Amino acid sequence: MLEVIHISDTHFGPDRSLDIRGANTCARAEALVKAINELPFEPDFIVHTGDVANDPDISAYTLAQEVLSDLKPPIYYATGNHDNVPMMREKLIFGEHVPLIGDSANQLCYRIGGVVAEKVQFYVLDGWVPPEEGPHGFLSENQIEAVLADISGDKPVAVFLHYPLVPVGSKWIDERLLTRNGVDFQNKLLAAAGSKLRGIFTGHLHRELKLFHEGVFHSGVSSPACEFTAGPIDDFCDFLPGGPIPFNHVTFTEEATLVKGYSIPFEA
Ligand SMILES: [Fe+2]
Repeated sequence: MLEVIHISDTHFGPDRSLDIRGANTCARAEALVKAINELPFEPDFIVHTGDVANDPDISAYTLAQEVLSDLKPPIYYATGNHDNVPMMREKLIFGEHVPLIGDSANQLCYRIGGVVAEKVQFYVLDGWVPPEEGPHGFLSENQIEAVLADISGDKPVAVFLHYPLVPVGSKWIDERLLTRNGVDFQNKLLAAAGSKLRGIFTGHLHRELKLFHEGVFHSGVSSPACEFTAGPIDDFCDFLPGGPIPFNHVTFTEEATLVKGYSIPFEA
């Protein structure tokens, strides 16, 4: 059994003063860290599925590392559309991992290492595209090939990335925020891992997400900074700051994937 904490979209600013519509992102991230540290069990590791920083600024990653280093378990990061991989590598301390495409690429694509790797093959992929192309994601062929080649077939497989792979049923999100080749990647993952594919875990939406697509379980965690609206026919996204602090506790057993969502009250 493995206990994993899934967090996302902290949106650290270059200093502690950054507010998103009145919600201070650093104070809310600190509340997230405190809540995780007060859990009555020790997680095996923590995954942050991207948008560590609000803008790619080296000071923001310095602040993120300062705050998140209070978490005791190893931490792993995926690249969000607001992130910068060289800065993440310079400032953030990652848990033990196995790079799948080489560190020379400005992409975070790796398998989570250490003792947990003996039970489940956890992959972190990088869907970042240049900001001028938009807030959607796209998975490069070299990453897809590397992950598929690494899947052993005899262990459960789980995937973490920033951008959801499949439509979530909200017009604005489905047109703008998904991994453009996400369904194609899911089909290839299914072919490689079969029934051992144990879940796709994402951020980006600033909304809690649970969906089942072609037999694959998807789980997204919201942002401690602010939530987005996600109505079925929305033509735009509005911000909903000031809500509770979210994180997901994900358990991997021999037979199942279990997700328990937390919503921690926050008082400024
Ligand atoms: Fe975000």
